[in-house]
Amino acid sequence: MISAIRNAVMTPLAVLTVWLEGLWGLLQVLALGAKAAMGGKAKLAETFKQPATQRKVFQVLRAFWPNLSLKRQLVKAYDNSGTVIVTRSDDCLDVLNRNEDFEVVYGSRMRKLTDGENFFLGMQPGWDYTRDTSAMRLAARRTDVAEIVLPRATELAGELVAASGGKLDLPAQLGLQVPWDMTDRYFGVGGPDAATMKEWTTILFWYLFEDLPADPELDRRAMAAAKGMRDYLDGAIAARKASPTETPDILNRCLSLQSAGTPGMSNLGIRNNLLGLLIGAIPTISKASCYAMDELLNRPDMLARAHQAAVDGDDALLANCIWEALRFTPHNPVIYRRAARDTVIARDTLREVKVAKGQMVFAATASAMFDRYAVEAPNEFRTDRRFETYIIWGYGMHTCFGAAINEAVIPAVLKPVLAQKNLRRARGAAGQIDTGPTPHPQHFRLEFDR
Ligand code: HEM
Repeated sequence: MISAIRNAVMTPLAVLTVWLEGLWGLLQVLALGAKAAMGGKAKLAETFKQPATQRKVFQVLRAFWPNLSLKRQLVKAYDNSGTVIVTRSDDCLDVLNRNEDFEVVYGSRMRKLTDGENFFLGMQPGWDYTRDTSAMRLAARRTDVAEIVLPRATELAGELVAASGGKLDLPAQLGLQVPWDMTDRYFGVGGPDAATMKEWTTILFWYLFEDLPADPELDRRAMAAAKGMRDYLDGAIAARKASPTETPDILNRCLSLQSAGTPGMSNLGIRNNLLGLLIGAIPTISKASCYAMDELLNRPDMLARAHQAAVDGDDALLANCIWEALRFTPHNPVIYRRAARDTVIARDTLREVKVAKGQMVFAATASAMFDRYAVEAPNEFRTDRRFETYIIWGYGMHTCFGAAINEAVIPAVLKPVLAQKNLRRARGAAGQIDTGPTPHPQHFRLEFDR
């Protein structure tokens, strides 16, 4: 009885709060838009690229148009006939769970990169997906994270921060270097050199996931990078077979699986699986590390808490500070799928929307993590949330293959930086994230007292 009364009071209150927040968000978006418009088109685009602005836009959508269907194609890189933006947590998770209704789209570009076969992120449920993920899970074992990946990332990050002399360009000197080193030592395929592998993976990640306008110049660069990577991997596999080693790396594990006759582990299968893994591994960890650091630097009280956690060796608290920072500024604000058939989202609710076959569906995970119906006090920066609150590397069948690596390596990258005294941004533009012409941080200069 008490809970019924409580529900009768709380439910309308929650709805009212969401509406009021939506109205407030709308006013803020209009004000921000008007101010930015005075600075021209570029300024306007820049403003709406900011996570804080996007949060306000999503706040409005969640209140008034939780599932918004548009004729407009926001993604040009993959065939589609319009866009549906999904902003509530339940609906985002539903979309990412319904593989038969909402398919992954990356297959066409994946095939261009491998010059033939698909990679498992571009696959629907079925034998090919099971074969490749099963083999690669045996090659990249969960236990490797604690035994191999984390100790090395911790050691290297510590050395790089110590050598920086109090002036650290986070992506260039640390964020890209630590995951590159992982691909070199643990994957066993670090490329001809670090700079080339970092460049290849940045271009290819951008091409697969972030090239919304389908830029022909990027296509050209991606084809060149993919050819370079394929040739390199073919050579690396042949060389390892010619001169075997005992190193416990992913390449050797794949070759052992090949010797045992494991399906999918032909030379070509190994090459394509490594290619897909490499693309996901380097620019992502760097970008997420930069975003988390940026968010913490914007919040002096939380920066102080993260600093203390790093100094005290309180790894659980440190990680919570980082995940919460990534809730505010996630690496992926949206995960997109395409409707494989005519269907409906949020059936029999006031927010029900029809989705036509061919429409692209944006599961706005950045919005889902601020949905008041799913997340308590969503606008507060808290360090006591359960990890399940975070949708920071996908959800459902295609949840990031590197999730356990991310959970270990991102804190390992940031811990020695956060432990420094008087950590601050460098002055002026240098202390802000600079992506250059890419969607990935190239420079972000920090300083600390030695
Ligand atoms: C902060 C770092 C990372 C972020 C933010 C991230 C993000 C994501 C996201 C959002 C997805 C799902 C994409 C979708 O459903 O459309 C995904 C899948 C994937 N990621 Fe990551 N990733 C990161 C690091 C890594 C690393 C280190 C690796 C390699 C070890 C990796 C390899 C993959 C692969 C292979 C998939 C496809 C999984 C599948 O289809 O089953 N990622 N990642």
